[in-house]
Amino acid sequence: MAKNVEKEKQLAAKAAVKFIKDNQVVGLGTGSSANYAIKEIGEIVKNGLKILAVPTSNKTKFLAESFNIPLIDINSITAIDITIDGADEFTSDLFLIKGGGGALLKEKIVASITKEEIIIVDSTKKVDILGKFKLPIEVIPFASNYVLNKIQLLKGLGKIRFVSDNPFITDEGNYIIDIDFGVINDPVLLSDKLNSIEGIVAHGLFIKLASKVIMGSNGSTMIFV
Ligand code: 5RP
Repeated sequence: MAKNVEKEKQLAAKAAVKFIKDNQVVGLGTGSSANYAIKEIGEIVKNGLKILAVPTSNKTKFLAESFNIPLIDINSITAIDITIDGADEFTSDLFLIKGGGGALLKEKIVASITKEEIIIVDSTKKVDILGKFKLPIEVIPFASNYVLNKIQLLKGLGKIRFVSDNPFITDEGNYIIDIDFGVINDPVLLSDKLNSIEGIVAHGLFIKLASKVIMGSNGSTMIFV
């Protein structure tokens, strides 16, 4: 039977939003799955739940504002209670690839100060080993060629992301390069290697940042912890 991917995302979003409690600071992810959660959060805020939210992209900020979700500047807080975000791939031990929507930098910062990071996905995102989805890496435009050459030495092949005829520009004015590393057997090692390349602002490997993944599947949800 064909998977109803949108339904699975909605189910995961609804399940995740139930973890939000009154007076919490809530991180809002970016992407189509996160958008379902933001819509649900808009509903519970309308019904009286008091939260303050930190968006992970300009798109998410506009969407949250359209639902009258109160926002707070991340620089005025030291921690986020709970964040709901999507992912492009995940494994059962909660390693993730993120950044398909190009918002990985703020998503990673928000995840890093979040106490409970809940990832919501449809069932197509589950993999045994990461690497089918090309790894998004945010680079300073000045360093893009240097970074591509360095990454080739790590056996990664990729190119700058384009939209129509122009490079995709992130909220922070950077480029995204999408890299095919083949099967990523050791995401921790690859993450460490990428972290040491000058010019990389953030990469889409999320290691030990997710607290749980809620996956929509067969009209229900499964939770990976
Ligand atoms: C954006 C992301 C998204 O969470 C990821 O691309 C998944 O998106 P979607 O929920 O639309 O499948 O990392 O930078």
